[in-house]
Amino acid sequence: EALAGVNAALLTIYDVTKMVEPALSICDIRLLVKEGGKSGCWLHPEGIPESLQAVLTPQTSSQMMQGISAAVITMSDRASNGDYEDRSGPLLKAALEERGCKIEHYEVIPDNKQIIIDRLDTVVNTVAPKLIITTGGTGLSPRDVTPEAMTQYCDSIIPGFGEMLRKEGAHYTKYAWLSRCLAGIRKQTLIIALPGNPNAVTEGITILQAILPHALKIINEVAHD
Ligand code: MTE
Repeated sequence: EALAGVNAALLTIYDVTKMVEPALSICDIRLLVKEGGKSGCWLHPEGIPESLQAVLTPQTSSQMMQGISAAVITMSDRASNGDYEDRSGPLLKAALEERGCKIEHYEVIPDNKQIIIDRLDTVVNTVAPKLIITTGGTGLSPRDVTPEAMTQYCDSIIPGFGEMLRKEGAHYTKYAWLSRCLAGIRKQTLIIALPGNPNAVTEGITILQAILPHALKIINEVAHD
């Protein structure tokens, strides 16, 4: 329907401009972004122009994440030392808040496996949010230990989150394949470890919003059982 609407609008433009230049073509009409319906959010596999990113703050998703308690943890030696300001954590907080989440905790910690495990454990047991999203430490350097900490700490790993983030992230940058980002569950908390790059955080939430509300729903239904 939207494609037919665009065609009709372009035919109208053609009609009023053809006396100036009749050699015009109507082409390249395609769906870039879709949300709602049974399958939720869909992005064109070749990616979408940056100017359309604003469209990707969908009302449907924001309603579905409404009231979800969330925590944000940034893993970065340099940000925790104060060598630079954490940009990804605040972006992540804003992206989650925009979608209706309640941010109940935020901190910046170093890339140290035991500290990561201890902090995750403290947040899971004291704040007990439905969702923890971390950023950083998923790359290939020896200091990138978030996946190792997650694997040790989580009760179960959900491989699909990392697979989806790499596959869809590659539409933005081929380096998405280098991130060992992943997700897991500890008790009733879904923990997702995103890459550290500020773009990766915004892109990651956009990618995951199609499946996140349903994942949270299932985890909490299981909790009730
Ligand atoms: N994924 C997306 N969607 N967008 C990005 O900009 N950056 C990549 C990758 N994943 C990126 C991305 C880069 S450059 C690296 S090195 C890896 O994530 C790992 O990042 P980390 O070690 O900061 O977690």
